[in-house]
Amino acid sequence: MESDNEKKKRKPHPVSKANIISQGTFAWTLPLFMTGFKRELEEDDLFQPLDMHRSNKLGDEMEKMWFEEVEASKKAKREPSLLKIIIKATWKKLALTAFFIFLIDVVIKIVQPLMLQGLIRYFAEGNEMSVEDAYTYAGGILICSLIPVFALHPYMLCIQHLGMRLRIAMCSMLYRKALRLSRTALGQTTIGQIVNLMSNDVNRFDVTFMLIHNIWIGPVQTVIISYLAYQLVGPAAFIGLGFLLIFIPFQGWLGKKTSVLRLKTAVRTDERVRLMNEIITGIQVIKMYAWEKPFNTLVSFARRKEVRQIRRSGYIKAVMYSFILFHARTSVFLTIFSYALFGNFIRAEMVFVIQSYYAALRMSMSMFLPTVITQISEALVSVKRIKTFLMYDETNIPLALKGPGELNGKKSGDLEREKKTKDLEMTNVVNVKGEESFIHVKCISAKWNAEGEEDFLKNVTFDVNQGELTVIIGPVGSGKSSLLYTFLNELPLNKGSIEISGSISYASQEPWLFPGTVRQNILFGEPFDRIRYRQVVMMCALLHGFRPVPLRR
Ligand SMILES: Nc1ncnc2c1ncn2[C@@H]1O[C@H](COP(=O)(O)OP(=O)(O)OP(=O)(O)O)[C@@H](O)[C@H]1O
Ligand SMILES: [Mg+2]
Repeated sequence: MESDNEKKKRKPHPVSKANIISQGTFAWTLPLFMTGFKRELEEDDLFQPLDMHRSNKLGDEMEKMWFEEVEASKKAKREPSLLKIIIKATWKKLALTAFFIFLIDVVIKIVQPLMLQGLIRYFAEGNEMSVEDAYTYAGGILICSLIPVFALHPYMLCIQHLGMRLRIAMCSMLYRKALRLSRTALGQTTIGQIVNLMSNDVNRFDVTFMLIHNIWIGPVQTVIISYLAYQLVGPAAFIGLGFLLIFIPFQGWLGKKTSVLRLKTAVRTDERVRLMNEIITGIQVIKMYAWEKPFNTLVSFARRKEVRQIRRSGYIKAVMYSFILFHARTSVFLTIFSYALFGNFIRAEMVFVIQSYYAALRMSMSMFLPTVITQISEALVSVKRIKTFLMYDETNIPLALKGPGELNGKKSGDLEREKKTKDLEMTNVVNVKGEESFIHVKCISAKWNAEGEEDFLKNVTFDVNQGELTVIIGPVGSGKSSLLYTFLNELPLNKGSIEISGSISYASQEPWLFPGTVRQNILFGEPFDRIRYRQVVMMCALLHGFRPVPLRR
């Protein structure tokens, strides 16, 4: 259901035409910056998304893999794993980016200090190095600084795209699933949960992928650097490294504590916002009875409780950040101090190299590793939540009940649904092909809750034939709407069968409009046919209602 705006053709994405140099240097972004420099950017300046980023395509791919996984798990009698398909979808790109980051974060961070060591040694007294050697070392330092400049940004872009694509694919899957949820499943979930899944949970993928390689970089760096530092300063290296590593469990614990506090803060913020909302809604009554003061006290109390949590997490953050300042420096000091105590002579090149090594370790071990561990554990929780949602019961709307537009151009996921529908047609609602349209209901029974005791539709039998008007009457809550749901396959039958010939249109007891124009609501995705549209509007006696509407659409 695209709005008229979205149908407007956007400019093609510049990356699709950019050559390799332009892509490497991001020169293709310049025209957009120039436009932004001359005037404010507008919606029309947006480009078409790249084909590989289209949610339709990404959702199709992911959904296909998910359905395959569900089938395979059914055969193997195990739980389907969403994590498995996420890994399957991303491992190739992850391996490629792992190579890049290994080059940037491990090779260069280790080679550069070695080059520095060579260069400093040239200036030391009594050296026998030639000037050419010194230039080679200096060149090495330069190259080591240049490579990250060119490699880091394409790497970041690639890894962010990976997270973004996964997020889009998941959103698309969740969205499709939400439209297929059965009535019974709708009872288990709430709109709030779906919104939360599509806004909060899927965002974890973006952040997690950005940091994901840090999970192995830190430990790999530690092993290599420990060996090199041992070569350089002997056992003194382990004293400094020990100091650096000993705090990591403590930092991990602090990280966990902050996430617990964050959760607590969020609950209290929710509470305060709820209170404020209620006050604003009922402000007239509060004013009328002069209840401002007691309500003021209530809000202040809620806010104080919230601030208490924020302050606690503030203290923890302060301790964590202070580590960054003294941690690596103290390690360098301890290493060199113990090296001197062991009776060795301290040389400048050694100090510089140790300092660079520890600086690299400080970033990866005390900043990124605790963060990535928290991120991954949060993302795993989200994956689990998304999986639970994807496993909810679905409606099985027979194809004959779908609109003609959808039947012609089969939409994604239709194959699976078609298969499922066929299975269901055998047991529940049978679509019969015939000239006449009819509904034959034979001895059906149904209940909403599988665990519920009694069927509330019991042995219902009747026929509705073409050209007849049938009215079902009964007290409130007797199951009239539920009976209609059985035709739509929204409520499964326990017994009996329903035969349907022809197409059904259903007008719900509770009207529902989606945000858009009246015409879009009436068309509901169908192509606009002026004559048919007018007929429908006339038949529904809407013309009179349209008169006061300015645009009449
Ligand atoms: N989605 C649902 N999940 C669980 N129970 C439901 C659901 N919808 C309806 N029910 C229950 O099924 C019973 C029949 O409800 P139904 O809406 O079919 O009654 P009705 O005859 O259409 O009532 P009304 O005259 O108010 O429209 C009620 O007890 C209701 O609580
Ligand atoms: Mg009803």
